[in-house]
Amino acid sequence: MKGIILAGGAGSRLFPLTLVASKQLQPIYDKPMVYYPLTTLIENGIREICLISTPHDLPRFRQLLGDGSRWGVTFDYREQARPAGIAQAFLIADTFIGNSAVTLILGDNVFYGADTFQAAFSGFREGATVFAYHVHDPHRYGVVEFDKNGLAVSIEEKPKHPKSNYAVPGIYIFDNEVVQTARNQKPSARGELEITDTNLSYLHRGKLRVHQLGRGFAWLDAGTSSSLHEASAYVQTIEKRQGIKIGCPEEAAFRRGFLSLEQLRSTTDQIPNCEYRDYLESIIAEAKRLQS
Ligand code: TTP
Repeated sequence: MKGIILAGGAGSRLFPLTLVASKQLQPIYDKPMVYYPLTTLIENGIREICLISTPHDLPRFRQLLGDGSRWGVTFDYREQARPAGIAQAFLIADTFIGNSAVTLILGDNVFYGADTFQAAFSGFREGATVFAYHVHDPHRYGVVEFDKNGLAVSIEEKPKHPKSNYAVPGIYIFDNEVVQTARNQKPSARGELEITDTNLSYLHRGKLRVHQLGRGFAWLDAGTSSSLHEASAYVQTIEKRQGIKIGCPEEAAFRRGFLSLEQLRSTTDQIPNCEYRDYLESIIAEAKRLQS
């Protein structure tokens, strides 16, 4: 399974924050936003990652993330010339995807909670798997409607009159047919290749699975000043209370076996003295204690 982080877009709702640095480079509490979706990919075993952003911002992502070796992953960087839709990612990354299945995650989506994704990833064989999450403002998202047996029957993009409160979050697992599916798509009325149309194509072919995310699960998107602030407050609350970090790619890479303890040590040695480093030191100390 390969992974794409889509981190372009206009970020107009966050203006003037986004005048010089894109949305996904903004902080959510103590880390750059893109660390959160990156951690989600690593937690689910994805090592080959393509990051797509604007020509203006791509150099900054390279600067921030490098070649990925400090997390035991590889990055392939691609440009999206203008925000022509989420599904355009599959066309931009077609040679990166090759013959693989692919997970697309949006660079401004934060997921946190029980191992909900694990079953979806390990059980994925073909077709498409998306998720459904109960929200109070479904009209802002793709909205999925279920029948009485819990099967998805429709998905509508930003409907004026949503048929349910279930939004489709920005993480999607597709088999290799997604590239051809995106090639066959036509731009919508707003001129975008819509991810909802990609999902609908799989739904109409009977190949779409929709997993409902449970109550204990957090999905936050950080596209507005309020939601950015709320996401920071959420992360701070959990981190302070539990003494753990959300969205820490070094930790995820170590726990997933992408980094050995020695590699985590040398990655940590490159970080200046700060609270983030103290956290990694505590993980190393605990791992050593368990080894002895
Ligand atoms: P949006 O929040 O829909 O759009 P935006 O980020 O451009 O923000 P605004 O509406 O404030 O102008 O995009 C969701 C995510 O998908 C976000 O991380 C940006 C990304 N995206 C792209 O990278 N390319 C695209 O063509 C689109 C539509 C979105």
